[in-house]
Amino acid sequence: MSEFHIAVVAGDGIGPEVTEQAIAVLNKVGELFHHAFHFNKVLAGGCAIDATGKCLPEETLEECKKADSVLLGAVGGPKWDNVAGDQRPERALLGLREKLGLYANLRPAIIHKALADACPLKPEITGDSLDILIVRELTGGIYFGEKGYREGKYGQEAFDIEAYSEMEVKRIAKTAFEVAMQRNKKVTSVDKANVLESSRFWRKTVIEVAKEYPEVELTHMYVDNAAMQLIRNPKQFDVIVTSNIFGDILSDEASMITGSIGLLPSASLGQTGAGMYEPIHGSAPDIAGQDIANPVAAILSTAMMLKYSFKLDKEADAIEKAVTSVLEAGYRTPDIMSEGMKEVGTKEMGNLILHFLS
Ligand code: IPM
Ligand code: MG
Repeated sequence: MSEFHIAVVAGDGIGPEVTEQAIAVLNKVGELFHHAFHFNKVLAGGCAIDATGKCLPEETLEECKKADSVLLGAVGGPKWDNVAGDQRPERALLGLREKLGLYANLRPAIIHKALADACPLKPEITGDSLDILIVRELTGGIYFGEKGYREGKYGQEAFDIEAYSEMEVKRIAKTAFEVAMQRNKKVTSVDKANVLESSRFWRKTVIEVAKEYPEVELTHMYVDNAAMQLIRNPKQFDVIVTSNIFGDILSDEASMITGSIGLLPSASLGQTGAGMYEPIHGSAPDIAGQDIANPVAAILSTAMMLKYSFKLDKEADAIEKAVTSVLEAGYRTPDIMSEGMKEVGTKEMGNLILHFLS
């Protein structure tokens, strides 16, 4: 029997509801496949500000560092909108990414056959399937560059600097090429090299790394064009590698093509095997506590954890299959509800996935 220690940052809004379902799924996987998952609940985000005055208490960071992986719900909400910038709930997320060294963010955008109707694009554009993986750089660029206020040409101004080192671009490019080798051997690197110096450097460095992967077809695309192409012809993409801020934006766009942001998981990985796994949706405070949030993204995040951090492929497949079965059986949370389907809440959706898990 293998044992795994998982730090759980349930966070704010719908975070606690969806992580509860994700934990139940892991417990069932443990029973079925004889693993022991131990959960250690820690505070980060708005709830941590309320309880301790800090968005990312030292103890939380220590527990997350010690854990084999972190499961995160979501952080933030209007309640903390007036908190100072460096203590906002979102800072906890950035702090965890930075302090745990999680520089590679994998965001799959997959259309489930059963949900082809939920895709807002015309069927002739997507068919009934789509499988894109966005590899987003997560600990560099404008999110972490020098920032502040200064006297500018027109008086006081604020600035955030976009900077990328060769090391940072190389390691994220490597991640993208490695995952591409496991998929269709196609990488699109997205930048703004027609304007930004940091993008020209990004492109040159990605081309350098590509030499080690002669089997992978590499193309480059400006981010504005990529935003358009995702709608015009998303099927041309397989792996997209891009900077922190471009990845943030394009992954929301890609998620919408799949029908609902409530379906998509993500993995944040670093040099060690440990990672942080979270749904890409936010805390959705408007629907929190009503048992209507979609737990699928959180549940699929546990499948990514099993696959990428614990190398439990068979177990990860079982979770993905259970989700597919529930969708094929016609069960829908309100965000993906359509005519003729059976509407269920967060808990029931979780229970159904447990039921189909074998
Ligand atoms: C994301 C989110 C975060 C980001 C926010 C909440 C800080 O939008 O994970 O995509 O911008 O990275
Ligand atoms: Mg985002």
